[in-house]
Amino acid sequence: MLIKVKKPCEISENLITPQENYENRRKILKAIGILGIGSVFGIDMLEGLDAKSVKINKNTYPYQTDSNYFQSPLTPYEKATTYNNFYEFGMQKEDPYHRANVLQTNPWSVVIDGEVHSPIKISLEDILKKMQLQERIYHFRCVEAWSMNIPWLGFELGDLLKLVKPKGNAKFVLFETAVQNTMPAIKNPSLGGYIKFPYKEGLRLDEANHKLTILAVGMYGKTLPNQNGAPLRLIVPWKYGFKNIKSIIRITLVEKIPVSTWTSLDSSEYGFYANVNPNVAHPRWSQASERFIGDGFGFNKIPTEMFNGYGEEVGRLYAGMDLRKNY
Ligand code: MTE
Repeated sequence: MLIKVKKPCEISENLITPQENYENRRKILKAIGILGIGSVFGIDMLEGLDAKSVKINKNTYPYQTDSNYFQSPLTPYEKATTYNNFYEFGMQKEDPYHRANVLQTNPWSVVIDGEVHSPIKISLEDILKKMQLQERIYHFRCVEAWSMNIPWLGFELGDLLKLVKPKGNAKFVLFETAVQNTMPAIKNPSLGGYIKFPYKEGLRLDEANHKLTILAVGMYGKTLPNQNGAPLRLIVPWKYGFKNIKSIIRITLVEKIPVSTWTSLDSSEYGFYANVNPNVAHPRWSQASERFIGDGFGFNKIPTEMFNGYGEEVGRLYAGMDLRKNY
């Protein structure tokens, strides 16, 4: 299986695209006139290839920065948006940055169904009208032992799930990414390592309802760039990066534990829980430390914290569980 060769979160330092090129391309595409997600956010403006990302207007969508969740230093925006994993656009770190412009994000709607009393199909605009946006700076830890600090803009997933009134037998939540024919790995499966799309991920319902679990619509005060999972992605800060599914179109409440994409590719390497745990090594490398991606070209090696540093808030979710077995 390709997965043994290609890891989900590989990163190499020579993938930075100079800011100059980035800005030039943005100007060119703006001139060509590609309409970005900005119109959904009340900002009718044309945006460029790299991000289609626009500043979120605080008058239209007022939000506060939640000081309970603060990490420093921030990972520079240029790094967080050019080192990405989004296999629908290719397997190399820089592929999503170069190719995700073909992702169509407007209009966008999400189906929320399954074991619920009131299933819905809701547009992104309506979600934004109903949900309270907040900014939170979370530490993001990839299973491949690198990390970033990212200021996300989003809302608590639990608030969205309340809209559909989960039934008593709903125990897990399954998420699905959009599949669009223009995605390079849909047109040519070899580009995505023959991964079977749609990309899927899952959480236990109590994890989904935990206040730390958010659906992000932005980062660094702007809408999400396509390569980071526009227009709506999951962020579960105490879990490895691959749980943080991008460009979500379906959320289904289910009774039985769902099989997620990486777990189905190799369950011995990528478990359902995927809680950050420095004491449980990946079969092929240690998880005791990580390389923090900050300013500059070097990596800063730091110790990895249990539950990515969020143990006080989430440790009780796993009371009595053997985390070596439930990795
Ligand atoms: N979601 C989809 N749909 N497809 C993917 O390939 N990759 C995952 C996750 N979500 C992935 C995805 C992995 S392996 C990681 S580490 C994170 O997204 C990376 O998020 P980032 O690119 O914003 O850093």
